[in-house]
Amino acid sequence: MLKPTLRETIDAYDPAAKLGRATTPPSAWYTSPDVYRLEQRAVFGRTWLVAARTDPLRAAGQYVTADLAGEPVVVVRGRDGVLRGFHNVCSHHAAEVATQPEGCAKVLRCPYHGWTYSLEGELRGTPDFDGVEGFDRAAAGLTPLRVESWEHFVFVCLDADAPPLKTFLGGLVERVAPLGLGSLKFVERKTYELKCNWKVFVDNYFDGGYHLPHIHKGLGSVLSYKDYTIEIEDRFCLQSSPITTDHADRQTATVRGGAAAYYFWQYPNLMINWYEGLMDINIAVPLAVDRTRVIFDFYFADTDAADGDRNRQSIAVAERVQEEDSAICESVQRGLASRAYDVGRLSVRREAGEHLFHRLLCADLRGELLRESAGVS
Ligand code: FES
Ligand SMILES: [Fe+2]
Repeated sequence: MLKPTLRETIDAYDPAAKLGRATTPPSAWYTSPDVYRLEQRAVFGRTWLVAARTDPLRAAGQYVTADLAGEPVVVVRGRDGVLRGFHNVCSHHAAEVATQPEGCAKVLRCPYHGWTYSLEGELRGTPDFDGVEGFDRAAAGLTPLRVESWEHFVFVCLDADAPPLKTFLGGLVERVAPLGLGSLKFVERKTYELKCNWKVFVDNYFDGGYHLPHIHKGLGSVLSYKDYTIEIEDRFCLQSSPITTDHADRQTATVRGGAAAYYFWQYPNLMINWYEGLMDINIAVPLAVDRTRVIFDFYFADTDAADGDRNRQSIAVAERVQEEDSAICESVQRGLASRAYDVGRLSVRREAGEHLFHRLLCADLRGELLRESAGVS
């Protein structure tokens, strides 16, 4: 049988099917390098993505580097207090100018031949470059990128034509506001590399508690499976559950209190997990069709030395949950590569979030194919 074309693979998913009739996208969406490359252009190359936290970018000269859809980027606070984003690419011979994950500098100096750029991106120093004719120094600054902040997060968008961040976030802004994320302080980052497609991690994130009683015995013991709710809107899904103490695992219960847990996902790869007094942020960064880096940033309301033990215990609970999720995600990736599987069905009670995700993704992938076939970039 002939291998389907990329177009046929994308068209095999029916975004018009109601949840009760819908399927998952075909497994090729999770295993095909061609789909992966299309996603990099259609999704990660066009939407607002979290590139940094705001806390290491408060003072002039502070910068953070990131890799977004294969593009090296740097976000830097200028002397005028304005946060700017640039492609982190030297206009001389393309070396990455800022080489540390984060830091503070007076100028951005390329490590290759020592060209320097101001914090505002203008080319300032070009050693041993006399006699070069027709060189437009003013046009040889760092190439700017769109940057906007919301709550603790600095977003970058590689697409000049995309709507502003607030439009992109839609109703999420209003829904998150009452949680008071601003009162929480960043404490620690942990990263994990998973042998699965980034969408497997996202799908697993919002199956509406479906896997809780099976995969997460500890976490599941403090959440109410039957009262779990799933709401979808714009480009986000909110799952929430009352916290229960009836049959709670003691270790989990001591660090997961309050009335309810809130789990927000914002398209494509940002997840905000909130409990009273703490949150952790997950960002699923695609590294290859079958490899994903998941970033966990932990924030707490109380961060004095006396809170250290409790906060560490809270992080340990999240790590255990992540290990449980990693194992099942890698198992799913192996299954998706099997000839025995192509598409699955969705639980109407539990899996509306995945349905939203797949439809948003489909719209972006089809849109990109249309643009590319029309020769529009
Ligand atoms: S590549 Fe940056 S100075 Fe040469
Ligand atoms: Fe999970």
